[in-house]
Amino acid sequence: MDLYEYQARDVFEKYGVPVLAGIVADTPEEVKAAAEKIGGVVVVKAQVKTGGRGKAGGVKVAKTPDEAYEAAKAILGLDIKGHVVKRVMVAQGAAIAEEFYFSVLLDRANRSYLSLCSVEGGMEIEQLAVEKPEALARIEVDPLTGIDKDKAVEIARAANFPEDLVEKVSDVFVKLYDVYKGEDATLVEVNPLVRTEDGSIVALDGKVTLDDNASEIRHPEHEELEDKDAADPLEAKAKESGLNYVKLDGEVGIIGNGAGLVMSTLDVVAYAGENHGGVKPANFLDIGGGASASVMAAGLDVILGDPQVKSVFVNVFGGITACDAVANGIKGALETLGDTASKPLVVRLDGNAVEEGRAILAEYAHPLVTLAATMDEGADKAAALANA
Ligand SMILES: Nc1ncnc2c1ncn2[C@@H]1O[C@H](COP(=O)(O)OP(=O)(O)OP(=O)(O)O)[C@@H](O)[C@H]1O
Ligand SMILES: [Mg+2]
Repeated sequence: MDLYEYQARDVFEKYGVPVLAGIVADTPEEVKAAAEKIGGVVVVKAQVKTGGRGKAGGVKVAKTPDEAYEAAKAILGLDIKGHVVKRVMVAQGAAIAEEFYFSVLLDRANRSYLSLCSVEGGMEIEQLAVEKPEALARIEVDPLTGIDKDKAVEIARAANFPEDLVEKVSDVFVKLYDVYKGEDATLVEVNPLVRTEDGSIVALDGKVTLDDNASEIRHPEHEELEDKDAADPLEAKAKESGLNYVKLDGEVGIIGNGAGLVMSTLDVVAYAGENHGGVKPANFLDIGGGASASVMAAGLDVILGDPQVKSVFVNVFGGITACDAVANGIKGALETLGDTASKPLVVRLDGNAVEEGRAILAEYAHPLVTLAATMDEGADKAAALANA
């Protein structure tokens, strides 16, 4: 889960990372009141979970509460890369002398953590990495020892911080690592981390990604950070049933077992769709290993709840869960759903106990169910049905 900037700011504050005052607001009136409360120059900042807010007009400096009101009017409702701004943060203005970059993240490929750091912050880090890679220090961080003071100093020196700043910034790096570790984050990024004209180091922006795998057991309090309004209602429903579902914008509902098989099913359906009016996959849904009737029913229920879905392709490779169990799962699901199941279902079974599985569905002879012998055939049939 990604946090909004204001949530990241609050978490930073809790861990002693230096931040400035920030108040969230949903209307220009609230923004004006917040600007009055903070006093002096403020910055009105769009709260959306995407980068490049500044460039898109989502970050505006306001010298007076009236200017803040006008800035809020311009920013609220703005569309930034498909994210409509519903909320802003009114941040205390900083007198910036220099902008730096710092992040610590999970480095999956190396099974380690990685810290990226640069004295050239502010600009997009992706751009810096391409145009001036030598200005971006990449320091591996051992997950067992983390970023202690020594490591933080190593990072600051590698990033070419002037010696008189090393002490101060390294203290902040240690605290940012405390956030990363303490909250089970996979990313903590500050761009920009600034030196103000009076010499203090402050985090002016924050991006934090929390590891969802840690939420339930290690951080039940993270649930409060979830943005339930913004979540897709189908995704929310799937989550309640413990399903691994991602809504896409096509017409062919997809159910498969195993993330790899589901990913390739999306590909073959998109490809088959080219011959059938350009129909596309409507979702990603991995029902995992145990394709029981209840899991199958929950999955079908979510998919059929998507009004855009015209047909469903169930693509299962029987392994530990054999095809006969899956076929019974489908049968049970159709019985549970009754009239709710109103869209054609193409089923391709293969692998363990495939003959038994196919026989169960053939005998069941449900009017909505079509069997397909191969994945390509199934994709083609499902695409044709979605286009019918
Ligand atoms: N509180 C503040 N006081 C003064 N200037 C600020 C403040 N917050 C942001 N700025 C200025 O605005 C710039 C952009 O702000 P910020 O980094 O928060 O957004 P962004 O980088 O455009 O968005 P994103 O990080 O989502 O790509 C900063 O680099 C900084 O120069
Ligand atoms: Mg930024």
